[in-house]
Amino acid sequence: MKNYIIALDGPAGSGKSTIAKIIAKNFELTYLDTGAMYRMVALYILENNIDYNNIQAVEDILHNIKVDIIGDKFILNNIDVSLKIRTPEVTKIVSPVSAIKAVRTKLVDLQREISKGKKVILDGRDIGTVVFPNADLKVFLIASPEERAKRRVRDYASRGINEDFETVLKDILERDHIDSTRKESPLKKADDAVEVDTSLLNIEESVNAISQLIKEKIGG
Ligand code: DC
Repeated sequence: MKNYIIALDGPAGSGKSTIAKIIAKNFELTYLDTGAMYRMVALYILENNIDYNNIQAVEDILHNIKVDIIGDKFILNNIDVSLKIRTPEVTKIVSPVSAIKAVRTKLVDLQREISKGKKVILDGRDIGTVVFPNADLKVFLIASPEERAKRRVRDYASRGINEDFETVLKDILERDHIDSTRKESPLKKADDAVEVDTSLLNIEESVNAISQLIKEKIGG
């Protein structure tokens, strides 16, 4: 079958990456976690004490950042940072970092490059609106903020990180606000995206709903 692009967008904690990973395996697709790419830039900024409010300072160091994805490993300047990019410290600054235009331009170019000539599922915020406006299937995942916070707390706990529900909920609401009101590529459902609410669905049910859409729209 020909190559195709599936765009899976939605807010933090809507289940995008968990679902995308399973879909990629079942349909033999390349999976690209674009949020992880923004997290790698945020980690670099954090580790090098760069002030992310100073746009010029961020633009000046962008050429020092080499982002590679090898299998399920995220490599920043030749170092595996797969675990480091998921810490609360990175999570706290990634939204403002990802709102910077030069950061987006660099990563969007890379996302298009990586996807060339492949069957791909990408998860993010702007895949269906900006990165691949002609994607073969666009899904916009949503879930209530409380449900998303619950999932994040569980996810942190499974990695030995203790974060309380109220703090995570506040973070999620703050990120939703920044991600959806920023000037550059805000989080927004594309007009032709199918909305799937996972609040009351478990992972298997969510995967089934999207698999059905793939079969209907693409025939995979
Ligand atoms: O999906 P995530 O939580 O790993 O994403 C981290 C941040 O990156 C999120 O706050 C918004 C940003 N992001 C983005 O702006 N565009 C994307 N395509 C993916 C993520």
